[in-house]
Amino acid sequence: MERFGEPAALAERAPRALVFDSGLGGLSVLAEIRRLRPDVEIVYVADDAAFPYGRLSDAALIERVGAVMARVVAEQTPDIVVIACSTASTLALPHLRAAYPQLPFVGTVPAIKPAARESRSGLVSVLATRGTIARDYTHALVRDYAADCEVTLVGSADLAPIAERAMRGEAVDDAGIAREIAPCFVEKDGRRTDCVVLACTHFPLLIDALERLSPWPVAFVDPAPAIARRLDALLGEAPRDSAPPRPGAAIFTSGAAPGRRLQKALLRYGLTFTPSAAISLAMA
Ligand code: DGL
Repeated sequence: MERFGEPAALAERAPRALVFDSGLGGLSVLAEIRRLRPDVEIVYVADDAAFPYGRLSDAALIERVGAVMARVVAEQTPDIVVIACSTASTLALPHLRAAYPQLPFVGTVPAIKPAARESRSGLVSVLATRGTIARDYTHALVRDYAADCEVTLVGSADLAPIAERAMRGEAVDDAGIAREIAPCFVEKDGRRTDCVVLACTHFPLLIDALERLSPWPVAFVDPAPAIARRLDALLGEAPRDSAPPRPGAAIFTSGAAPGRRLQKALLRYGLTFTPSAAISLAMA
């Protein structure tokens, strides 16, 4: 495909996707992208200097995402950007699309519509950061697509930081996870919640613990496969004879090198940390 702003003669290299999150949550999306489109070169950007996004005001979050994007889009010249973060997507996406009209952006939408379709009991919960739960965007999805369901919105401040710790190989406490997910499980008139929307990309990283610590089995609905399909549709067909994927690059805005355990975890996602690619973009 032709790269934006680049002459057609240089258009031979693999399409480059920038996958962006406040931290490591976007790896749950990256894994699906890799599975569906192994030909795509991935640059993963974690805005760890500003993590967690869930605690930022709307104005601060829009400004921060805009500042990071300005830097990495200029340096990495991606063909497509995936905002692998519900907290950022549900607020900043219109601003990003307006700022880069030539560059396709794929956002992360809380998977309320498929969950409402899948639910048999009509009791659906949405588990997200407090920022995502507060958004008009989220409330509109509930109104438009889950009018037949009783939807419980659960904002968690701790679950994304817990997922970060787990990815860094630190011990995480089952009781802390159980406490955060408990409000998702509702019993009413003999019915029980049967679908829980994972509306923060960090949460699927904890899926084993979430399933183990659930008071009863539910379907956890993860938006990552739909995000990967959207990227696939926007990029168009993969070349038939595409070479095996090269390791992607992981960039952290703190400028700090990841520890040994995190580097190993990144490798499992096909990413290597290159000190030369690190950017230092402290939170204002
Ligand atoms: N991974 C992010 C999301 O999907 C949020 C975590 C955070 O920075 O609070 O919402």
